[in-house]
Amino acid sequence: MSPRREVLTGVPAPAAPVLADGERRPVSLEAAPPEVAAEVGLRPRALAEFVGQRRLRDHLGIVLEAARRRGQSVDHLLFAGPPGLGKTTLAGIVAAEMGAGLRITSGPALGRGGDLASILTGLEEGDVLFIDEIHRLNRAVEEILYPAMEDFALDIVIGKGPTARSVRLDLARFTLVGATTRTGLVTGPLRDRFGFVARLEHYDTDELEQIVRRGAHLLKVTCSDDGAREIARRSRGTPRLALRLLRRVRDFVEVRGEGVISAEAARAGCETFGIDELGLDRIDRRLLELLCVQFSGRPVGITTLAVSLGEEPETLEDAYEPYLLQAGLLQRTPRGRVATPGAYLHLGLEPPSDAAAPEDTAAPPPRLFEG
Ligand SMILES: Nc1ncnc2c1ncn2[C@@H]1O[C@H](COP(=O)(O)OP(=O)(O)OP(=O)(O)O)[C@@H](O)[C@H]1O
Ligand SMILES: [Mg+2]
Repeated sequence: MSPRREVLTGVPAPAAPVLADGERRPVSLEAAPPEVAAEVGLRPRALAEFVGQRRLRDHLGIVLEAARRRGQSVDHLLFAGPPGLGKTTLAGIVAAEMGAGLRITSGPALGRGGDLASILTGLEEGDVLFIDEIHRLNRAVEEILYPAMEDFALDIVIGKGPTARSVRLDLARFTLVGATTRTGLVTGPLRDRFGFVARLEHYDTDELEQIVRRGAHLLKVTCSDDGAREIARRSRGTPRLALRLLRRVRDFVEVRGEGVISAEAARAGCETFGIDELGLDRIDRRLLELLCVQFSGRPVGITTLAVSLGEEPETLEDAYEPYLLQAGLLQRTPRGRVATPGAYLHLGLEPPSDAAAPEDTAAPPPRLFEG
């Protein structure tokens, strides 16, 4: 089933973090503008093709099937989770599975109430309206959405001052699919109006391997299972990174190799692009090195660390730290950032005897994405 029509309404290009020297990080989670087009071709169109997120898939499958049987539009759905895990993909799948039209916009693109009102009045019965970054809707626009979601109605005010009156317009019964990377910023009233809220989790190596194999098939490049696994292990639990690495390794084998992705070629390709076996790039390793070597394992404040790396503290917190924390390589303590024993070992260094259990931090969590 393919959607009747797909309309893109002013979605701003996502801002990928740009390094101080202007280079983009190969592990940045956002899609770089040229990548957006490359991703479209790799997006699964049916729920059955969507890898992983088993619980979410089961539940969503039931919700879609029930709506289909009743011949009704699907309840409003909210997908939450870190970038690159498949939220936009799922919105497309919902529309395709329902044979419905898909209208795409985003919180920041809907600056004025009129922008949303004109989209809403243009929707047809059963259409899917996808609002990306829904936590970034402004209050006035959000308030238009409440009656639209609840009663499929649009309240408009005609006239000004004492003669102003409110008129209610009926809307087609549509499905709102919202996506957010920041669940905490979605207001309570908006959240409560979704019939189904799902959180996407990071993927494990087996799932990423399947995604890489599927991607290789679509990109028409031969990739052994071991090759796919090498790429999967370095992808930080994130399909977007897995597919980006796959494209880079494909470039590598086409230019330097035989055009085939073996385990060896995948390793060599990843290393050429500076991605090591834990999926760390040059800057991640530099950060850990600073903590382990230059600062000799002492806790380091975020500002000092940022200055040493030539970055803004916010960039450090948003773009670099989450994965290092998650992978158990870095800890935040009240006195500053500390590298864990795992970080020393990863850099081929001997952990200092007191690094094993800093007294004011919990034990490091297990590494998440190792295969
Ligand atoms: N479960 C999956 N199976 C196969 N491919 C996937 C899966 N999840 C994501 N992908 C692929 O990963 C890429 C990124 O997915 P997508 O754009 O849906 O992420 P997102 O959650 O919307 O990210 P963002 O928060 O940046 O908007 C796409 O090319 C998509 O096809
Ligand atoms: Mg998206």
